[in-house]
Amino acid sequence: MASVRRLLCALLLLALPASLAAMPGGAVEADVRSGAALAAARFALSRAFAAGGGGGGLWALRTAETQVVNGIKYHLAIVLLRRRCSGDQAVGQEASRCAGPGKPEQVSCHFEVWSQPWAGRKELLKHECAPSEPSEEAQPAPLGQWEVFHPRAPALEVEEPFQGERFLQNASVHLVSLFKDFLNTYKKSYKDETETTRRFGIFAENLEKARIIQELDQGTAEYGVTKFSDLTEEEFRTTYLNPLLAKLPGRPMKPAALPRDPAPAEWDWRDHGAVTGVKDQGACGSCWAFSVTGNVEGQWFLRKGSLLSLSEQELLDCDALDKACQGGLPSNAYEAIERLGGLETERDYSYEGFEQKCEFSKEKVAVYINNSVEISRDENEIAAWLAKNGPISIALNAFAMQFYRRGISHPFFLLCNPWMIDHAVLLVGYGTRGHTPFWAIKNSWGEDWGEKGYYYLYRGSHACGMNTMCSSAMVD
Ligand SMILES: *[C@@H]1O[C@H](CO)[C@@H](O)[C@H](O)[C@H]1NC(C)=O
Ligand SMILES: *[C@@H]1O[C@H](CO)[C@@H](O)[C@H](O)[C@H]1NC(C)=O
Repeated sequence: MASVRRLLCALLLLALPASLAAMPGGAVEADVRSGAALAAARFALSRAFAAGGGGGGLWALRTAETQVVNGIKYHLAIVLLRRRCSGDQAVGQEASRCAGPGKPEQVSCHFEVWSQPWAGRKELLKHECAPSEPSEEAQPAPLGQWEVFHPRAPALEVEEPFQGERFLQNASVHLVSLFKDFLNTYKKSYKDETETTRRFGIFAENLEKARIIQELDQGTAEYGVTKFSDLTEEEFRTTYLNPLLAKLPGRPMKPAALPRDPAPAEWDWRDHGAVTGVKDQGACGSCWAFSVTGNVEGQWFLRKGSLLSLSEQELLDCDALDKACQGGLPSNAYEAIERLGGLETERDYSYEGFEQKCEFSKEKVAVYINNSVEISRDENEIAAWLAKNGPISIALNAFAMQFYRRGISHPFFLLCNPWMIDHAVLLVGYGTRGHTPFWAIKNSWGEDWGEKGYYYLYRGSHACGMNTMCSSAMVD
């Protein structure tokens, strides 16, 4: 009886938002990543800032609501970030360095856009924009994707975020040669001319985006052309990242014991033979498996004295708690390794980059783990644990990584907010370059990305949420 009542309650709770949503004439929350909401926001921005002024920036939707009123009315809240002073350098060239890396100008806007698609009509009914103070205590909330804001260009009038044709017609020789270099360097080819044109448009827009990310960066990083420069943010996210990290709570693990000694000033496990070479996950959201094998490789080395490259494919195929190329959680993967009885080596169970039938064999187990622990969220304690115990599996927001080339990345808080964790990696060391403290992070996108496969991230401000999911296997 009680369980029936509980069930009824659950059903009522489920039904409630739907019945509210169905209220005739009411506004309904819309997905901040939906194409229609984005198109309405692009239109609103182009109207609101038609007079131009100020440099380029990046904008994202905070919330979107739609209302049916003889057409569709969009209520949109957006946030816009731009450099307080902005250079006019060409894309792909070094960003101007005005007055040091201060905080960007932040503008919050509320728009009402009324659209009658059948009549081809679209109007900006209301716009209110005001500077807002960048705050790190903002409510945890997801944002839509960041798009380039062109204050002077009419590009925003149109529904498409990029326009291959336009870029092709008016593309500078410089841009075309950058694209040709890109095609050669990364051995890219497309199926036909239409696709090549489209990819060139995305490439050009991405270079502009990278330029703005660099302008807004508070560290020393250089952003620009990478092997992901021909992908939209959406394509990049769905192919290479792992949104499950932010959505699922993860299996609880017991807290790691804190070392008594404070962290040394710097440490790098690569100098102590505990880290294998950089691997490449390919077009598969399996970062979680690489993060975990990297950690287990280090733990095994430190306990048993031999560095073995371990199998991610075993986790893709045999870890039923996770979702192979659709993502996974390190905390689940440790559990799976314990249940399976260990990991095979990379050589015995090699990486394919897609899910297959499980071919795990107990006879080939090369390493085992006995347990796993959750490590502190305090960056000093993370450093102390790392220096004493080995490389750590971490997760972070990978926003700044698509166009990262080198240097210490320190994206503005809102651009890389800690509640949108979408990538798992391996923390292998830390130190300072000049006066800038950094974390050294082993990524799994091959050696032809970043600094020979590594990402350097600012240390000391929880940058990109790097402190939110730190864990390790334990080998007894
Ligand atoms: C290309 O550039 C020319 C001259 O600068 C300009 O008149 C034209 O409108 C541009 N075309 C597009 C599609 O932006
Ligand atoms: C750790 O796990 C291995 C393999 O399952 C087992 O043989 C060993 O006894 C365990 N160690 C401890 C201390 O439980």
